[in-house]
Amino acid sequence: MDDLDAVVSVHTAARTAAYREGGVPEGELDGTEGIVSRFNGWARAIQLPGKTTLCAEVDGEVVGVLSMESDAPGTALELSQIHVRPGQWRRGVGGRLHAAYVQALRETGVLTGLVGVWERNDRARAFYTRLGWRPDGTVGTTSEGLRCLRLRLDVASA
Ligand SMILES: CC(C)(COP(=O)(O)OP(=O)(O)OC[C@H]1O[C@@H](n2cnc3c(N)ncnc32)[C@H](O)[C@@H]1OP(=O)(O)O)[C@@H](O)C(=O)NCCC(=O)NCCS
Repeated sequence: MDDLDAVVSVHTAARTAAYREGGVPEGELDGTEGIVSRFNGWARAIQLPGKTTLCAEVDGEVVGVLSMESDAPGTALELSQIHVRPGQWRRGVGGRLHAAYVQALRETGVLTGLVGVWERNDRARAFYTRLGWRPDGTVGTTSEGLRCLRLRLDVASA
């Protein structure tokens, strides 16, 4: 919880940059309600059992965040959030966080990962594709009403 402000700051900066890249108009990028909802969401993710939050630090500063949780039947581990501060993109931070997630897939024996990605988020889609994720055919809608693709990752047991 000591890192909550930093976690929300990284999420907000990464999300805004990704939406801007995907063509969301400036006036619709964010608002007070969104920030409050991110504070509440991350506080829950950090404190609730069954959810795990990881931070990546560079020189003692939080620059990346990830959260994951098991689905109800315990057959998949959802990658709920992964965000890196835009100034740190393409330096391996997301890849390191993702490696920790894959390790959790193996340690829990779940072996199947799921993530939802906005279809116009080319950067994140390239990242996931490079790391072995593939669309599972499910198309949904984000809380903001944007079309989102579900991706799946299958890893081998250790
Ligand atoms: C997606 C995200 C987490 C990736 O983090 P990152 O620290 O930049 O990722 P890495 O530097 O570890 O990249 C790992 C590999 O992914 C691939 N990759 C990452 N970004 C890419 C891009 N823009 N184009 C092509 N490949 C890319 C590359 O193969 C890269 O390895 P390389 O740089 O050695 O070639 C980051 O871009 C981000 O925070 N985006 C905004 C928030 C977001 O969209 N989150 C996901 C929501 S579903």
